Amino acid sequence: MKVELSHIYKSFGNVKANYDISMTVEAGTVYGILGENGAGKSTLSKVLSGFITKDSGKIVLDGMEVDIKTPADAICAGIGMLHQDPLDFPSLSVLDNFMAGRSALGKKRGKKRAETSSNRADLIRELRQLSATFGFDLPPNDRLSNLTVGERQQLEILRLLSLGVKTLILDEPTTGISASQKTALFIAVKQLAADGKSIIFVSHKLEDVEELCDRLMVMRQGKVIGEAEVKGRESNELAASLVDMMFGRELAIPAKHEINIQQTEPALVIQDLQIDGDRLSLQLDKLTVNEGEVIGLAGLEGNGQQLLLLACAGLLKPNAGKIRISDVDMTNRAYSNFLKAGIGYLPADRLQDGLILGLSIHEHFMLRQSHSGFFINWRDTRQFAHQAIETFNIRGKPSTKVERLSGGNQQRTQIALLPDRLNLLLMEQPTRGLDIESTLWIWKQMMARCEKGMMILFTSSDLDEILQYSDRILVFCGGKVSQLIDAKTLTVDKLGQAIGGKFA
Ligand SMILES: Nc1ncnc2c1ncn2[C@@H]1O[C@H](COP(=O)(O)OP(=O)(O)OP(=O)(O)O)[C@@H](O)[C@H]1O
Ligand SMILES: [Mg+2]
Repeated sequence: MKVELSHIYKSFGNVKANYDISMTVEAGTVYGILGENGAGKSTLSKVLSGFITKDSGKIVLDGMEVDIKTPADAICAGIGMLHQDPLDFPSLSVLDNFMAGRSALGKKRGKKRAETSSNRADLIRELRQLSATFGFDLPPNDRLSNLTVGERQQLEILRLLSLGVKTLILDEPTTGISASQKTALFIAVKQLAADGKSIIFVSHKLEDVEELCDRLMVMRQGKVIGEAEVKGRESNELAASLVDMMFGRELAIPAKHEINIQQTEPALVIQDLQIDGDRLSLQLDKLTVNEGEVIGLAGLEGNGQQLLLLACAGLLKPNAGKIRISDVDMTNRAYSNFLKAGIGYLPADRLQDGLILGLSIHEHFMLRQSHSGFFINWRDTRQFAHQAIETFNIRGKPSTKVERLSGGNQQRTQIALLPDRLNLLLMEQPTRGLDIESTLWIWKQMMARCEKGMMILFTSSDLDEILQYSDRILVFCGGKVSQLIDAKTLTVDKLGQAIGGKFA
């Protein structure tokens, strides 16, 4: 299906999220949308998929103008969107999620039972057949919350395809999924394009765009900055011109973090730790982390990395073992003691665990501040929020509710809310959804904190990020810690093998 957008405008108050956007996606091609955080990529995707109503402009599909006001209108017209933050139902089963949207669509299309069939056996068969086409493995009766982010994405794509979608919008689909899931996703996308579907691929990652897209456009501050052909271009030359279009200048990569362990003290000591999670028990015999050291936790999602972070943050009680921080035994102590000991935690799911929906940036800072007496000093906290917005370059106002921020700006807000002085920072996917410039900026801040002695334990699905910033890497494989490796001795390939249980 050929998709043409012409002169799309959308403002939120005085924010011009989309300003005079025109683009054409040919059938059977993958079209990339690149741009810094807050550039307007998700807004444009939501306009096309009916989640946001445009102020003005035209949407033309295969030469016919269509009026898209709701997601159901979009699906009827053949357009579906995989959202940056999932919109699925974690407490329901895989099959129930697969069925979502069918009956409403059936009514809209004026059909009685045809594709709205509630016959579970038929649906299971359909799900299995579709899964097999793409090599996905999605057990129909499992609870969705037991699936990884990558599997949830796979299911959502299959659901949209089963609803007859011919244009698929993928909003930052490669953040937070494993390398092998990314490979599976890319194969699926190429297969869909070869079948004549049009794919709109929103991303921050130049290498992903280079690998997958035929053409792309770059957005900045709600506008189209330029379009480029991807196929046949030389990689370095393309990357340089895209960075220039996105940020208007070249970016400096910060120097690799290096620490001389002999010169610093062990400040986090973990011994004989055993933690029970829903799906697995994690066993860690010994880990000693020195002041200023960065430990990357590498492994496929759900192999115990999160359990270790939660236990070190005081959010999950281990069954056995000891955690000592700066010579204080923290085992089985209350969460408030962990906070007092200078331990910070940055969760991966910013909307579920990190931020409070419905509250503004200002209100978040109010909650973070300690207040003496009965009254809240709103003026001071407003001032504080203003400052943080400036320092962390958050595109929003103190009164902006966090759910209205763009994905990357939500992540900046989470990071801005961390206490200034920390001894140990535990981070899950710290740069998920951040543009390249922000990623570099965040790590520069983190490295400066490490120079002063702060320790970091972090997970990332991006192996380059783990290699770039870790001193040592703890490899999780098959639900246990398999190796602790000096990052200097590794390459991405070797790390990939270690995660797969091959390299020793
Ligand atoms: N519902 C809303 N209400 C008010 N402002 C909004 C709303 N949705 C988006 N915005 C604003 O519109 C601008 C564009 O946001 P959008 O989410 O489209 O950016 P993005 O390019 O997807 O960024 P990111 O890479 O961070 O996801 C931002 O300034 C954002 O704060
Ligand atoms: Mg976005």
